[in-house]
Amino acid sequence: MLGLGKVQAGNRILDIATGRGEPAISAATRAAPRGTVLGIDSDESVLRLARERTEREGVTNLELAVSNAESLQGIPQASFDVVLARWGLMYFQNPVAALCAARRVLKPGGLLVVAVWVEPPRASFFELPRAILSGLTKIPAVDGDSPGTFYYADSGRLSRDLESAGFDIQHSEAIAVDVMEAVAS
Ligand SMILES: C[S@@+](CC[C@H](N)C(=O)[O-])C[C@H]1O[C@@H](n2cnc3c(N)ncnc32)[C@H](O)[C@@H]1O
Repeated sequence: MLGLGKVQAGNRILDIATGRGEPAISAATRAAPRGTVLGIDSDESVLRLARERTEREGVTNLELAVSNAESLQGIPQASFDVVLARWGLMYFQNPVAALCAARRVLKPGGLLVVAVWVEPPRASFFELPRAILSGLTKIPAVDGDSPGTFYYADSGRLSRDLESAGFDIQHSEAIAVDVMEAVAS
C-alpha cells in the first residue's frame, strides 16, 4: 500500500481506521523525519494498543486520534498527500461518506489506497474455519450486502463507490496475504 501510495519522506499521510496502528506506523517510518502521519479510528481502545507500539518502537511522527472516518470532522481540507485505508472501509455504515471525506482532505493530485478482502472462497482465513465448523453446526450464510468483511468483495461495487466519491481509479490488483489467527488460552 505504501508503494502504491508513493509514500515518501516528507509526506503528510492519513490512515483511516488504523486500528492497532497499521499501515500508519509503517508509513510514519517511511515518511520520517519530516513527514508526519495521522492515524484515526473510532475505537479508543485499539488506539491505545497503537500508542503502546509507537512508544515501544520510538515512532515520534505519528499522531493517533479518535475520529469517525465518515466525517473526518475537524480535519482541514486538502491537507494530506496520501490517504490509506487498510481493511476498514467495508465495515463503515456509510463508506461513500468516508470516501467523500477522504477526497476532501486529500491535496489535489493526492492518492488514496484502499485494501479490501476478496470473496469468501478465495479468503481461506474465513472459509477454512467455516468448512470445519459446518460439519458440526449450521453456519449462517455470508451477507455481502451489509457492512462487514465481504462488502467490497464485489470489486465493481468498490469501483462505483470510488467513482461516486469523485476518485479516478488508476490501479487495482489482487495481493495474497498470509493470515494467522491466534487465541490466548
Ligand atoms: C479490521 S480493523 C483494521 C485495522 C487496521 N487498519 C489493520 O489493517 O490492521 C477495522 C477498524 O475499523 C475501525 N472502524 C470501524 N468503523 C469506523 C469508522 N466509522 N471510523 C473510523 N474507524 C472505524 C474499527 O474500530 C477497527 O479498528
